[in-house]
This record gives sequence, C-alpha cells and structure tokens, in this order.
Amino acid sequence: MTRRSHLLLIFGSVFLALLPETTQLQPSQVWTLIKIQQLLNNPPMLSHWRRSTDFCGGAGGFMGPNGSAAVLCYGDTVTQLHIAGAPGSPPLPTNFSIGALVTTLSRLPDLKVLTLSSIGLWGPLPGKLSRLAALEIVNVSGNYLYGDIPRGMSRLVGLQTLVLDGNMLGGELPAWIGTALPSLAVLSLRNNTFHGAVPESIGSMPSLRSLVLASNNLSGNLPDMSRMTNLQAIDVAGNSLGPAFPKLGRKVVTVVLSRNRFAGGLPEALSSFYLLERLDVSWNRFVGPFTPALLSLPSVRYISIAGNRFTGTLFDKTPCGENLQFVDLSLNLLMGSVPTCLRSPERKPATVVLVSTNCLDSSDGSQRPSPFCQNQALAVGIVPGKERKNIGRQAGVVAGIVMAILVAVSAVGFIVVFSVRKAATKGSKARTLAPSEEESSSTGYPSKMLADARYISQTVKLGALGIPSYRSFSLVELEAATNNFENSYLLGQDSHGEMYRGRLGNGTPVTIRTLKIKRSQTTQSFNRHIETISRLRHQNLVSALGHCFEYDLDDSTVTQLYIVFEYVQNGNLRSRISQGTEGCKLTWSQRISAAIGIAKGIQFLHGGIIPPLVGNDLRITNILLDQNHVAKIGSYNIPILAEAMKSDQGGAGNKFQSDSPMYGDKTDIFDFGVILLEVVSGKTITSMYEVDILKELLAWAIADEDRVRRRSFADPAVSKGCSDESLRTVLEICQRCLAKEALQRPSVEDVLWNLQFAAQVQDDWEVEAWSSGGGSPVSSSSRASRVARPSPLNLSR
Ligand SMILES: *[C@@H]1O[C@H](CO)[C@@H](O)[C@H](O)[C@H]1NC(C)=O
Ligand SMILES: *[C@@H]1O[C@H](CO)[C@@H](O)[C@H](O)[C@H]1NC(C)=O
Ligand SMILES: *[C@@H]1O[C@H](CO)[C@@H](O)[C@H](O)[C@H]1NC(C)=O
Ligand SMILES: *[C@@H]1O[C@H](CO)[C@@H](O)[C@H](O)[C@H]1NC(C)=O
Ligand SMILES: *[C@@H]1O[C@H](CO)[C@@H](O)[C@H](O)[C@H]1NC(C)=O
Repeated sequence: MTRRSHLLLIFGSVFLALLPETTQLQPSQVWTLIKIQQLLNNPPMLSHWRRSTDFCGGAGGFMGPNGSAAVLCYGDTVTQLHIAGAPGSPPLPTNFSIGALVTTLSRLPDLKVLTLSSIGLWGPLPGKLSRLAALEIVNVSGNYLYGDIPRGMSRLVGLQTLVLDGNMLGGELPAWIGTALPSLAVLSLRNNTFHGAVPESIGSMPSLRSLVLASNNLSGNLPDMSRMTNLQAIDVAGNSLGPAFPKLGRKVVTVVLSRNRFAGGLPEALSSFYLLERLDVSWNRFVGPFTPALLSLPSVRYISIAGNRFTGTLFDKTPCGENLQFVDLSLNLLMGSVPTCLRSPERKPATVVLVSTNCLDSSDGSQRPSPFCQNQALAVGIVPGKERKNIGRQAGVVAGIVMAILVAVSAVGFIVVFSVRKAATKGSKARTLAPSEEESSSTGYPSKMLADARYISQTVKLGALGIPSYRSFSLVELEAATNNFENSYLLGQDSHGEMYRGRLGNGTPVTIRTLKIKRSQTTQSFNRHIETISRLRHQNLVSALGHCFEYDLDDSTVTQLYIVFEYVQNGNLRSRISQGTEGCKLTWSQRISAAIGIAKGIQFLHGGIIPPLVGNDLRITNILLDQNHVAKIGSYNIPILAEAMKSDQGGAGNKFQSDSPMYGDKTDIFDFGVILLEVVSGKTITSMYEVDILKELLAWAIADEDRVRRRSFADPAVSKGCSDESLRTVLEICQRCLAKEALQRPSVEDVLWNLQFAAQVQDDWEVEAWSSGGGSPVSSSSRASRVARPSPLNLSR
C-alpha cells in the first residue's frame, strides 16, 4: 500500500508547507488532546503528552517500536492526528467508550486527517463521526469496531480516504457509499465481515482510485467499473465474488481477484491494459486459454494465475515484459515450455517464476503428464455460452418426433439401430452433379439465408472449433468415398434412406445419411432445413460436415439429400462404462468430462441454434466417444427428418417417460439424468423400472453422512478414485435431473455448472493426493489457501 502512504506523505507536506511560524495550540484543543489520551487509557506512545506540551511545535510526536503519534497544526488548530499502536494490540478495557472518544474528537473542528490504528478501539462505528465535518482522511484500521457503516458518515462530503481495514465491521455495503462521497479516492474495507453484493453505485464513483474489499464475505458480480476513469487499483481477494470478470477501465494498474469464484475466461481486452502492473487472478475457477500477451505488457511486474484451469501452450520464444518480477503459473493446464526470457540469468533482478503442476516440458518432476492437461483441457475447453436468448419454443417441432440416428459404428458393442438389408438398386437413379465445391463452400449460401441468421451464439462460435468447415459436396466425391455406395459401406437403412460410412479424398472418415425428398417440400423450407443442418456443428455433437443434393434430370427439383457427418471412432459411452472390460473403463474424471461434454452438446442443441432442438431422445448408446474421449451426441432431432416422419410414424415415443411436449428441453434433462445414473453406477439401464430402483438407492446414498453408501452406489471401477465431494455433487445433480416434475429439473446451465464444479474438486483432490504422494511442488501456502477456499456446498446455490 505504498500508494496510500504516498498520499499521506503528500498531504503531510502540503499541510506542512502551509504551516506559518509555530503558534501555541488553542488551550481548549490542548485540553481535548489530554482528554483523548485518558480515553485511550494512556497508551505508551502518548505517555509524554502533558498540558504543557507544545503540540504544534512537534512535541506531540513520538516514534517507537510499540507505536507512533503525531499532531500537526495549522495556526493554532489541530489539522492532523495520528495515533498508531503495534499491530494486534488488545482491546481497550471495558470502561472505554467509542462514543465519548468521537465526541471529544469533534472538539477539533479543523481535523482533516485522523489515524487511530491498532490501538484497541472497540464498539460500533459512531455515526456522529460526521460532526468532524472537515475530515478528509480517516484510517481506523486494526481495531475492534463492529456493526455496519453508519449512515451518518454519508455527511462527510469532503472525505477522500476511508480506511476501515482489519475490524469486525459487517452488514451489507451501503449503496450511498457510491453517491454521497463524491471526493472519495481511496476506499479500503479489507478484512472485515461485509457480506452481500457490492452495490452498483460503486461503479459510478468519479474520483475513486483505489478500491480494496479484500477478505470479506462479499458475493455476486462486481458492478460495471469501466466508467471509473480514475480507478487504478482494485483488490477484492478472498471473497465469494464472481463469476463474471469485472468490467474495468483500461488504465488500471493493480487488479487482484484471487480466491473468489470468478469463472470463464480472461477478457481479451486485458492484453491492452498498458498500465497494468499487478494481475492476480489466482485460486478462482477460470478456464480457457491463458493469453501469453499478458506476460509482455509494458508495465507488468507481477502476474499470478495459479490454481485455475488455464489451458494453452507456451513457447520458448514467448516474449515477456522488462519489468516482470514475479510470475506464478502453477496448477493450471498449460503445455509447452517456460519462455526463455523468464529463465534468462541476465534478468536483474531475476524474475521469480513458479510453474509447478502444469504439463510443461520440464524434467524436474514438478509437472503432470501431458495427457492429463489435454484431457482436462478438453473438458473445460469451451466457455459455456451464457447468453442464451429467449427463443420462442416451437412446440410443433417437438410433436411426434422421430430421431435421426447418426450411427457411427464402433468397434465395441455399438447397437446399430438400422436394420441392415440389401440396398436398393442404385444404377437406375438419375443424377446430376451438385454445384462444384468452389462455388458452394459455406459462404456460398444464399446471402439472405445468412442475413436471416439472427444470432450466432458464443456457443456456436466456440463449439465448432476443430471441426472442418461446412461445405457442400459433389456427388462424385461421395461416390468415391463410398466406392459408389457399395453395399459393404452400408451401415443401416430406414424408410427415408440409408446410412453409409465412407472416406473422403483427404482420408477423413465420414458417415453419409441419404434422405429422399418429397416433392411437396417447398424450396423455402428446404433451404431453411439446410441452413439448420449447416449449423449442427459443435464439438460435443457428431457434427454435420456438409451436404449434397441430387436433382431430377427432368424438372431439376431436388430428389435426394445427402448429409455428411463426422465419423466417431472410439465406441459408445456404454461400452466404456457398464459394458466395458476392466482395463477400458473410464476413470471418474473421464466420466465427469464425458458428462460435461454431453451437457454442452445439449446446451448447444437447446440454445445454440434456431429453432432449438429439443426432445432428442438421448441414450447412452448414442453418445459416442472420439479418440480423446470427447463425448459426442450421435443422435438428435434433425428437423427435416422430424418433419418427414411426422406424417408416417406416430412418434417413436420416449423410452423412459412422457412429458408434455412443452417441456421438451426438460425431457432431454431427464434423459441426461438416466445417462448420468449409468455413468455413476456402472449398471446397464434398460427400463424405467431400473431407473426407479436406482433413484431410490441414489436418494439413500446422497443422504449418507458416512460416505459408505455413496461409495457403494458408485461403480466399483471408480469408487476408490473419486473424491466424496465430487461424487456427491454428481449424485445430487443426477437426482435433480431425474425429478418427476419437468419443471423441477435443473436447467442445462445448472447441470453444467455442477459438473464442472465436480470436475474441479476431483481435480484438486487428485492433485492433493498426487502431491502428498511425494515430490510435491505445491507450496504450503497454496495448500493453505486451497483449504481456505469456501465450502463447495454453499456454492451450489
Ligand atoms: C492506516 O494506518 C496504519 C498505521 O499508521 C498504516 O500502517 C496503514 O498503512 C494505513 N492504511 C492505509 C490504507 O493507509
Ligand atoms: C478505565 O479503568 C482504568 C482502570 O482499570 C482506569 O485507569 C482508567 O482511568 C479508566 N478510564 C476511564 C476513561 O474511565
Ligand atoms: C514496547 O514493547 C515491549 C515488548 O513488546 C516492552 O518490553 C516495552 O516496554 C514497550 N515499550 C514501551 C515504551 O511501552
Ligand atoms: C484480519 O484481522 C484479524 C483480526 O481482526 C487478524 O487476526 C488477521 O490476521 C487479519 N488478516 C489479514 C489477512 O490481515
Ligand atoms: C463469512 O461467513 C461465514 C458464514 O456465513 C462465516 O463463518 C465466516 O466467518 C465469514 N467470514 C468472514 C471473513 O467474516
């Protein structure tokens, strides 16, 4: 807090400069000071105060190991009073009265600066402090003041600095604090027990330069502070704030957010904060890529991102700023190598660099194996799109739905839903070529269609990462991929068409769904469907890669549609859970990751495309795993198929339950609950009856205080390797998903949040277990702060 002591110094020197030749202090003020001495029970640093003391001549001052005192005057009146005891001084005796002290202080009408720190003051902060109307700087830190900030203080309109650190003050922060004190430049409330949200009004304090709310019990998002052009320092460490990263002006110098509940990614704008010197976001729930550009900000001295789940790769050549003195990247999911500039012995003073417990190249045993980070990164790779708009649900789409089964046949036990029969004769079909690749890449869509895309959510943009771009295919290409739609490539067939596997010219394996088009289908609705299909792209869906039309030679109407999907190689989820052999069963972390993947897929289907796809009849056998164990929903409710089948099939119906179509999204949540039940218990579930039985065991397991039943509920293949807290979180969310009443089931965001939380506590638990297993680089301080983190149960609601 050097900044503040500067402030005091500047103030001091201003007053001193104005000081005329020494004059005697008014006798009434001498008497007041002596009275204060008594009220404070004659503390040692005031022991030399007598009625005869020349207070304004400097004789009131004292500087010793146990405390300090100073009186400064302007003319014959006291303008500054500093009395500071040793940190941790005990409370004053019971005959002390804070009210009497403040009443006495108010006899110093010109007092501008008041420091009464660590001298054992106790009692509620009196509102009548406002009688000291000239006050500009107040520092009463390190005492035993309790109660809330009294309304009366709002009358101290000249107040510039208010420091109440290290007391026992509490209650909610008053909203007037942002409006009543127009000159306030420093507000420091560190280490009290304030709770509740930080009032919006704080975001509109024109003069505020330093806001310190650290070590309280504050929660919720911080107000928008981007308009506070003077704000230089914000320290809110050690609260329960979040999840949104605070909006700050670009000129901040110090940003300390550590030990809170901030989540999501770092805002991109941060790398343009050219004055930033100190950035501490450690011990939160941040996910997503770490921006190495932060290391090379021109002013930066101190960066800590420890204890999050930042991903990304660092390189030898990653540049770093000249002033960098401390970098802590520990306990994240970073890969690559520690930048050379950080290790350079020429840096003077040498930068302190902490990197343990990532997956960086290092042979000192401080790193995790890189598959760990890869897997975890995949699990947290996408920041869930929060901005789901209120899209009018189209109940009609839901009615009588039949699924498109996008089968990707896998080596192990995949249930092929199509009945494989001999394909119909193919030679007789009249074909013309679809438009060539060049003119119909994804940008080649009718521009109207793209203009119609009312919104592309974050989910869409981020979710499609890594999937080849959507394009249209030529029939020639698809014929080549399937050896002319040869029978041995046929995976299945139903009344609307066939499903083939194939391999594109560049080696990419695909599945190709063919679909006969009814003549009644209007071009417009057809285009709309294609538009929707082209958006079915997300890392947790078996995604559409493109389409191809086949035209009638006579009237050039579309007769057949081919949709090309990803081919997912690694089996379905059941084959790695309940029907897996011992060695291939997923670990607990992998199971949570898979569940998170499914939930993200559902979130995308519900919120990432228009119209939302609900009622997807999710089943564990239709959840496929790719080679990185990323779960992909392999079967969902493609509108064009739903429409085509509405007429000729009376709805496949839901396997396990029947909600009103209005709650199609909650039907998906229920189905997800069933999947989760199997994922946790490791028992194959094939009927509603089995669901009911397991639900009862589930309730029983959750309620068990001794964990024993919880452990026995979990699949024995994982029950040893999972933390109880993680298990209980998953069980609880599973139970809520399976609620009988659709409305009582959680939103997919809620599900995701809980699963991500379960993943994190599991991760922490594994790290803890791993590090106590020897060779741990986790420092004792980081361990301590981990223990100090708030209990997860409070977090979940
Ligand atoms: C408050 O006063 C104490 C004692 O003089 C000092 O150590 C501390 O830095 C001051 N706090 C602020 C924020 O200026
Ligand atoms: C409080 O009590 C102490 C003795 O315990 C006494 O010395 C002191 O003068 C009293 N202070 C006041 C303000 O009464
Ligand atoms: C200062 O504190 C020490 C012990 O911490 C004590 O021995 C000494 O007497 C104190 N000095 C004064 C002036 O009170
Ligand atoms: C907070 O204040 C308490 C006493 O009020 C003290 O024991 C503790 O060390 C302080 N913590 C910090 C971080 O300053
Ligand atoms: C925060 O609140 C909890 C209970 O609500 C309490 O136990 C804890 O002491 C509080 N923390 C602080 C720093 O006051």
